[in-house]
Amino acid sequence: MEMLDLISSVDLREFRGIKSLEKPLPLKRFTVLLGENACGKTSVLDALSLLPHPNAPTPKPLNVVKDCGHRAEVLKTIRGRFESLVYGYEGEAVVHASVGGREAVLEVSSKGFGRARGDGSRSLDVGEACTAFGLDVDDVVYLPSSGIFVRALEGGLYSQWPMVEKRGAHTAASEVFGDEVSEVVPRFNELFVRRVVGGISRYVRLRDVGALERTLLAVTWIEVLKPKVVLWDDVDAGLHQTAVKALAKWLSEGDFQVVASAHSPRTAELFKEAYAGDVQQLVLRKDLSDVVSFEQR
Ligand SMILES: Nc1ncnc2c1ncn2[C@@H]1O[C@H](COP(=O)(O)OP(=O)(O)OP(=O)(O)O)[C@@H](O)[C@H]1O
Ligand SMILES: [Mg+2]
Repeated sequence: MEMLDLISSVDLREFRGIKSLEKPLPLKRFTVLLGENACGKTSVLDALSLLPHPNAPTPKPLNVVKDCGHRAEVLKTIRGRFESLVYGYEGEAVVHASVGGREAVLEVSSKGFGRARGDGSRSLDVGEACTAFGLDVDDVVYLPSSGIFVRALEGGLYSQWPMVEKRGAHTAASEVFGDEVSEVVPRFNELFVRRVVGGISRYVRLRDVGALERTLLAVTWIEVLKPKVVLWDDVDAGLHQTAVKALAKWLSEGDFQVVASAHSPRTAELFKEAYAGDVQQLVLRKDLSDVVSFEQR
């Protein structure tokens, strides 16, 4: 088993918009989820984001942000209600994942109750789930497509800035978007990017940067944590293909598994080039009973 395909499959029952999967999704070093709107891409990523335990602390420094303390809570914060995590807003959603050859079972109820089980049926607390599935709480990073989340992540990184700087993560974004950014810097209670314009440093508020904002924060965060798994919803949202290409190259050099959703098949092609072909595309399709099947490319 290679670290780069740590999570080798996922199966869902009654999770968000997915009643069930026709068969489990196989996951590779890099998997890009494609398919029409509402086919279930975000649902799959939301489900995986609960690993290793729905109540596990969110990766630092997001864990210090109000209403983002644990994994299920982050989903509640961005989707508005716990019930949204469960198909039909009532009952229990179940996620089965194969992690490093071990079976992880996660459950969340519409009441907000979260639980993890391993091979046996006994419930595992957060520490036991981490041990059982070989995942640390900071190993699985999720980048949902949400403005609320972007603000939370900015707040978390700002409030723990020494950690970011000590790990050299403040310059990571410049490796991806060199001409646009030389580093991320904290100023006046928020984050800015420093750009060099005509030989002079210019500081631009991160929230004035535009579509690159979420990508810059994400790259910085990933560099802080060096996680084992990166889950990235709408990875190409608002990005020009030059930016997608730069991001794909940076991700492909990282030592982590990636599951990302994209809207443009062109994005999938750019990732394929960056990963020297080592990219799996799963095109999801939802039928009239909300059962999701996939075509592997
Ligand atoms: N709790 C729920 N119960 C039933 N259906 C739901 C629930 N939450 C979302 N849905 C349905 O799931 C679909 C959205 O699924 P999802 O967000 O996973 O799709 P997606 O592939 O990410 O779509 P997009 O391309 O628009 O981002 C919508 O059809 C919505 O009606
Ligand atoms: Mg989506």
